[in-house]
Amino acid sequence: MVLTESLRIHELSPEERAIYLTLKPERLPEHIAIIMDGNGRWAGRRSLKRFFGHQQGAKSVQMVTETASRIGLPWLTLYAFSLENNLRRPRAEVNFLMRLLKSYLESNLQRMMDNNVRIRYIGRIHELPPEVQDKMRWAADATARNTGTTLTLALNYGSRSEMIDAFRALHAEIRAGHLSADRITEEDIHRHLYTAHMPDPDLLIRTSGEMRVSNYLLWQIAYSEIYITDRLWPDFRGIHLLEAIADFQRRERRYGGLSGSVGEVEEDSDRIQIAAG
Ligand code: FPP
Repeated sequence: MVLTESLRIHELSPEERAIYLTLKPERLPEHIAIIMDGNGRWAGRRSLKRFFGHQQGAKSVQMVTETASRIGLPWLTLYAFSLENNLRRPRAEVNFLMRLLKSYLESNLQRMMDNNVRIRYIGRIHELPPEVQDKMRWAADATARNTGTTLTLALNYGSRSEMIDAFRALHAEIRAGHLSADRITEEDIHRHLYTAHMPDPDLLIRTSGEMRVSNYLLWQIAYSEIYITDRLWPDFRGIHLLEAIADFQRRERRYGGLSGSVGEVEEDSDRIQIAAG
């Protein structure tokens, strides 16, 4: 459900508003997750160092978050730094991303407050440098009472390690005698994921054209619609978020069921016949 009390449509740009007005308010997604990809390529195409791509990417984070907050999107979850990025990228790039995160939080706190945005994190946060964790806590505490969009940054995040953490917690519950192993349900797994407090994403967006999910929210995206754009993340803005939502609204979500247009389904003893309506 959209956060109607925090709608600020009048703050959208005229181009954004034109797209917004074509959307069906009753079918707006509740949770959008984004794989922000293409910072390096954006820089490379301009013969710039990769760092500039990340810097530009941080601007997109702010712009997209502001549009999300204006349309009352309750949950926006961005893949900012994966466990694999942490292990496999050159130290200089990892250090730069950590510094960028700190300065992002510092310099955008006021804008988050102005936009009623609450910031949170998922991932193995305790493995990040202590001064980065301090800044993260500071921003989370400062914005904790905001009631608009919850911006969740996935940091040092990997979906498989999230599941391992969840299974370990389940195991502890079983050992303590609070749960029996043969009674584990999807709900039990859900409540041990980092995302236990939020609904699953309705829409997963990936920028820069790659057709992968890259170990992102694997459990949670079971029924998400996927939208892939060739646009590189540093060029992605609020208007592109609205275009993705418009595309999402053209889809029919079936959750493993049948389409409304399939028509009558008949069954006889020898064959199953699907009669198109
Ligand atoms: C992919 O680009 C993006 C990342 C490694 C992480 C995303 C980081 C940001 C958007 C910047 C900082 C974010 C915050 C919240 C301050 P890539 O380097 O993999 O691009 P490439 O595939 O073109 O090389």
